[in-house]
Amino acid sequence: MSYPHQISTREQYDIAYQASIENPEAFWDSIAQNFLWKKKWDQVLKWDFVEPKIEWFAGGRLNITENCLDRHLEGHANTPALIWESNDPDEHHRILTYKELHFKVCQFANVLKNNGVIKGDRVCIYMGMVPELAIAVLACARIGAIHSVIFGGFSAQSISDRLHDAQAAFVITCDGAFRGNKAIALKEVIDDALISCQFVKRCIVLTRTRQPVSMIKGRDVWWEDEIRKVETQGNPVCKAEEMDAEDPLFILYTSGSTGKPKGVVHSCAGYMVWANYTFINVFNYQPGEVFFCTADIGWITGHSYIVYGPLTAGGTSLMFEGIPTYPDAGRFWDLIDKFKVNIFYTAPTAIRSLMSFGIEPLEGKSLESLRVLGTVGEPINEEAWHWYHKNIGKSRCPIVDTWWQTETGGIMISNMAGITPGIPSVASLPMPGILPVIVDEKGEVITTTVASGNLCIKLPWPGIIRTTYGDHARCRTNYFEAYPNLYFTGDGALRDTNGNYRITGRVDDVLNVSGHRIGTAEVENAINRHAGVIESAVVGYSHEIKGQGIYAYVIYGETTHDLNLVRQDILQTVSRLIGAIAKPDTIQFVTGLPKTRSGKIMRRILRKIAENETQNLGDTSTLIDPSVVDEIVKGKSGIK
Ligand code: WT7
Repeated sequence: MSYPHQISTREQYDIAYQASIENPEAFWDSIAQNFLWKKKWDQVLKWDFVEPKIEWFAGGRLNITENCLDRHLEGHANTPALIWESNDPDEHHRILTYKELHFKVCQFANVLKNNGVIKGDRVCIYMGMVPELAIAVLACARIGAIHSVIFGGFSAQSISDRLHDAQAAFVITCDGAFRGNKAIALKEVIDDALISCQFVKRCIVLTRTRQPVSMIKGRDVWWEDEIRKVETQGNPVCKAEEMDAEDPLFILYTSGSTGKPKGVVHSCAGYMVWANYTFINVFNYQPGEVFFCTADIGWITGHSYIVYGPLTAGGTSLMFEGIPTYPDAGRFWDLIDKFKVNIFYTAPTAIRSLMSFGIEPLEGKSLESLRVLGTVGEPINEEAWHWYHKNIGKSRCPIVDTWWQTETGGIMISNMAGITPGIPSVASLPMPGILPVIVDEKGEVITTTVASGNLCIKLPWPGIIRTTYGDHARCRTNYFEAYPNLYFTGDGALRDTNGNYRITGRVDDVLNVSGHRIGTAEVENAINRHAGVIESAVVGYSHEIKGQGIYAYVIYGETTHDLNLVRQDILQTVSRLIGAIAKPDTIQFVTGLPKTRSGKIMRRILRKIAENETQNLGDTSTLIDPSVVDEIVKGKSGIK
């Protein structure tokens, strides 16, 4: 049986979906034919959710960059692969055609080789949103090195933790990164991180801001110098390393409910098929269209929908260095008009933030090139959905609300542009290959159509997480143990009479702040390391722009200090240990936390207080000292 690679009608979706669930092997065998393989697979799927051990296209051999680049050279060599727009509206944009991108990736792959990087090595990439970031990612994949991109907002300590965990001996960075009216000193952060990472052999530094940087002899080299060496060697091509389907392609760290971020590992073949298939089908991408995903490549959205999805599809991906509000809140809309963007994909938090500027920044913008809009990263509230639909989509563009996770590699539940209907704030239908189930609190799968509970996935899909780097048991406990033989997402969901899914948010101790995942335990650990802090408890609360804000209850021992200054100091400590993205929005000093006799903090109560729902706190009789609750409620009135 052969199934269309791009679904173009509702009927085709229904057929593809049915087939993918009834016979996943036959379905994915057909879809995988659309890629370039050095050797085809022996078996489409082998799986066991207990271990877990999941193999897609076992025995297959390939290189993802040949699918991203080489195979488009015939016929599409001069098609723009990447369009890059600077943070500075006066700096000229750059366009890299498939031919140029291929050349640059090969060139930098040779730089990596010259610097001793070999297949299987872990390479950490900490850069701003410049084309060289995408080039570095692809160059790693070209030679079979495992890239681990770290978002530019993470601190030296976070980088050091990740470098240790991945045992990464190579780092690629920039002197600095432009963001709005700031230049962020990335190399300086790396220098601080590397003090505790003596195993790092080489750090390649790209010039972007040309701010002064320290360069350590024997360890640090300039990107541009290394390119020149390759040019003198006169070898413009770099043969793509032949990878096994299940070889790891990359590691991406993400927060969980425990203190330490985990390294999510994705494979070469399955990830490629999934990123490509979801890109083509969710957005209904048509050849020649310009796709603009506003995420940073430091997150999974950037991996799958700036780099791998669009490029495997031979598409044109717009990459933006700046921020939505610089030099003004019309920046995205200017870019859409400047590059005639057809598909625009962003986070609800960005929409809410731009909404707060009113429609004035939209004056004089045509936006007529737009055909499809998308959202990702967090539930979208109806108000933001309608604003987006009316003012950006001019009530004519479908909005795809795409639910997925770092661990899923690509979009899992979403309407498909122009094919299945979009409903405000409902992620809607599963992609072919995805069998969602909802389990109740007892762990039983709910069999009725209408259901509410925890969201799990019953069958493996090609983009599923394979392991957590260096600690497979952690992968098992996190995702496969709570409900036997199911992948547990950590999200709650509702299913309606038509089988549409509405995602209600995390059910574990993970926050979603501006579409970024932050573990409460991680923030608590950082706060607790601040001198004078005795204990803390962190919860999320509704935040108008960020979706969720971070609320910290802190027991602080030293009372002679000015608590307003201590609050600032604690924020500084959190910034140092994790990064500015994890700074609590509110800190309330308390003298005790609501604990049960077994010592467990009752977060339910703290969440309600943070939400100002102080009238209805539920049963507090199991607390050791219920009076702390009254005290916290009283203390809250003094907090801004
Ligand atoms: C968590 C995953 C998906 C890439 C960016 C975030 C939440 C994601 C939606 C959506 C409601 C969503 C979930 C999920 N989430 N998309 N469309 N509607 N919630 O990736 O950092 O791995 O976070 O983001 O809670 O579990 P991530």
